[in-house]
Amino acid sequence: MSLLFGTARVNENDHLEIGGCDTTELAEKYGTPLFIYDVAHIREQARGFKQTLDELGVKNKVVYASKAFGCLAMYKLLEEENLGCDVVSGGELYTALKGGMSPANIEFHGNNKLKSELELALDSQIGTIIVDNFYELELLKELTAARDIEQAVMLRVTPGINAETHDYILTGQVDSKFGFDVASGQATKAMEIVTASKGLNLQGIHCHIGSQIFSSEGFLVAVERMIGILKEWKETHEYVAQILNMGGGFGIKYTENDSPLEPKKFVQAIVEAVKGQCSLNDYPLPEIWIEPGRSIVAEAGTTLYTVGAQKVIPEVRHYVAVDGGMGDNIRPALYSAEYTGLLANRISEENKDRVAVVGKYCESGDILIKDIELPELVSGDLFAMTSTGAYGYSMASNYNRNPRSAVVFVEAGQDKLVIRRETYDDLISLDCD
Ligand code: LLP
Repeated sequence: MSLLFGTARVNENDHLEIGGCDTTELAEKYGTPLFIYDVAHIREQARGFKQTLDELGVKNKVVYASKAFGCLAMYKLLEEENLGCDVVSGGELYTALKGGMSPANIEFHGNNKLKSELELALDSQIGTIIVDNFYELELLKELTAARDIEQAVMLRVTPGINAETHDYILTGQVDSKFGFDVASGQATKAMEIVTASKGLNLQGIHCHIGSQIFSSEGFLVAVERMIGILKEWKETHEYVAQILNMGGGFGIKYTENDSPLEPKKFVQAIVEAVKGQCSLNDYPLPEIWIEPGRSIVAEAGTTLYTVGAQKVIPEVRHYVAVDGGMGDNIRPALYSAEYTGLLANRISEENKDRVAVVGKYCESGDILIKDIELPELVSGDLFAMTSTGAYGYSMASNYNRNPRSAVVFVEAGQDKLVIRRETYDDLISLDCD
């Protein structure tokens, strides 16, 4: 069963249309595999988070986790929508700045930020650095002293939560490579160092409990722990936080089997929990920041593939191969992530075959969808895989020296190429002979 989000619809030619553009025409114009982003849908998601927070009457900031998908045009869009962004590398920071993000709206995450990356961040005067460990703290002390500046920072803490998601995308548990552990006292030690450092201004604390989370329970426990830490620091060190950053991780619908809470409900649950815990502990209500990535772009993205070879093994499996695969979407191979899709050029044709949609990479695990019912396919048909907007292009690779796909933004009947397709010359452009 396929899912259509945002402006996606079936047009009068029985083709998939997104953002008022016929996807078969987009395939003709830009080739496939092609990532298509429904810009109106991205805007709607972004505004939804912001509006809900505003309506709840708390000071807030929505910081898009740009690892989900970033490029110049995306950062420009974020700036238009008044969102902040989180970057996790010098490369993302560089792209965000070139894309026109205001430095003050950028926060920098990462468990091993390089000295050169921190230098770029400080020299660009970005809003916040989320400090992850003691090594980074020392580096920042040195670098801010050398520049005689003060940098706003937050501390990433691991509150010890096991949210229900895939192990690789769990991040809030004690045994994690990210952040300062609370239970062993590391977080408190870090707070003492920061508050005693002339060049660092501690704005508050941050946690991110995981990704593709479907319910609010983990967040509620996290809020309780975070306010617990803050209360302790207020009593023992007279430190009062201005900001509580609860991270991202709000789940989305990849298939009919997924039933995440609506984004709005996650936000309401978090804000109500923060208000409740603050009043219970007599703690001044901090600003509440969130960092949604996937929930802003995933459902807005669709990947269009062209069907090529098919292999039918009687009573075993019917393989349908498309012109992309694990190079443009590693998630099925890496996380056993499940997706669905539809035949973009003959949508309402009756499903006849149960097939596996596989990629063209030399790897048996290069299976995009293990089991899906589709109409009888012929080479040249267009298969649209839905909900591919997050961690698809951003995790793309050149495995087998396949060029990376193009990305197009569509809105109100207009299409705009935002990342061009790689060429073979691009592929050898870094080689030295
Ligand atoms: N904030 C922090 C500190 C994070 O580490 C992440 C994601 C986010 C926000 C955004 O989480 P989101 O709202 O997108 O779930 N490649 C994996 C996901 C890795 C997520 C890493 N951190 C995947 O494809 O599922």
